[in-house]
Amino acid sequence: MSGRVEGKVALVTGAARGQGRSHAVRLAQEGADIIALDICGPIRDDAQIAPATPEDLAETVELVKGFNRRIVTAEADVRDFDAVKVAVDNGVEQLGRLDVIVANAGIGTGGIPLHETDEVDWQEMQDINLSGVWKSVKAGVPHIIEGGAGGSIVLTSSVGGLKAHPNMGPYIAAKHGVVGLMRSFAVELGQHFIRVNTVHPTNVNTPMFMNEGAMKMFRPDLENPGPEDMKVVAQLMHVLPIGWVEPEDISNAVLFLASDESRYVTGLTLSVDAGSALK
Ligand SMILES: NC(=O)c1ccc[n+]([C@@H]2O[C@H](COP(=O)([O-])OP(=O)(O)OC[C@H]3O[C@@H](n4cnc5c(N)ncnc54)[C@H](O)[C@@H]3O)[C@@H](O)[C@H]2O)c1
Repeated sequence: MSGRVEGKVALVTGAARGQGRSHAVRLAQEGADIIALDICGPIRDDAQIAPATPEDLAETVELVKGFNRRIVTAEADVRDFDAVKVAVDNGVEQLGRLDVIVANAGIGTGGIPLHETDEVDWQEMQDINLSGVWKSVKAGVPHIIEGGAGGSIVLTSSVGGLKAHPNMGPYIAAKHGVVGLMRSFAVELGQHFIRVNTVHPTNVNTPMFMNEGAMKMFRPDLENPGPEDMKVVAQLMHVLPIGWVEPEDISNAVLFLASDESRYVTGLTLSVDAGSALK
């Protein structure tokens, strides 16, 4: 099957790399034009993983163009509503409409018990992973309503939006909050035939997960753990014998929710978790 989102325009946040890039490319492969937004820079100076760059976003552009789809990009921070609105308005002006919002941008965390978490770290997490999702949707929804043809909104939560893991409290709280946002938007926007759903990935092979810090967190017993060492422990989270999934596995779920194949699916929490919820 091809052309599953033919003629639609999709906004994807966090599109410079990782899952966001993969979503943009997969949607383009099936016929959508893309508005790709990313901060393309560090969130903070002491970040544990390398930030996405303008070159990363340029790579997304090339991949989307490879499918003969149009793409408009913006370097914007999802915490800055005015900047997101300008980016979305500009994208819609150039591409003519908006049908799909994939609010995917986010940051990771780990390692500190919730009651010992620094207030700045807490706030930063909520500002990006929860409020940033709300602001991205808020900026896009008026365009979808104006189009009068309905639409689909997909919010990236996590397995950690449905259950807790220790020492990830700010992330777990924000990702549970995303489910609340999804349900609220779904009941409000259904009258416009706008559907709203969440995806809940387990570990995904992106810089957020595949990094030295995560490997040390999974294998504190080893001095220099590598991916294979991490896999041994990460696999215990799942029913299926894998340590992580690939970005395309999440993109396929996003594509289904973005397409008319799911035209009566709204309010769904769609897990792509290798059975993590069963454990
Ligand atoms: N990787 C995993 O294991 C995993 C698991 C479950 C859920 N998730 C979620 O998936 C989403 C995508 O993460 P990923 O795995 O692709 O990680 P990633 O770090 O590879 O990509 C995240 C992208 O979001 C962008 N971004 C971050 N903060 C931003 C901001 N304030 N404004 C604009 N852009 C911003 C980054 O620049 C980056 O390009 C996140 O919401 C994350 O929480 C990831």
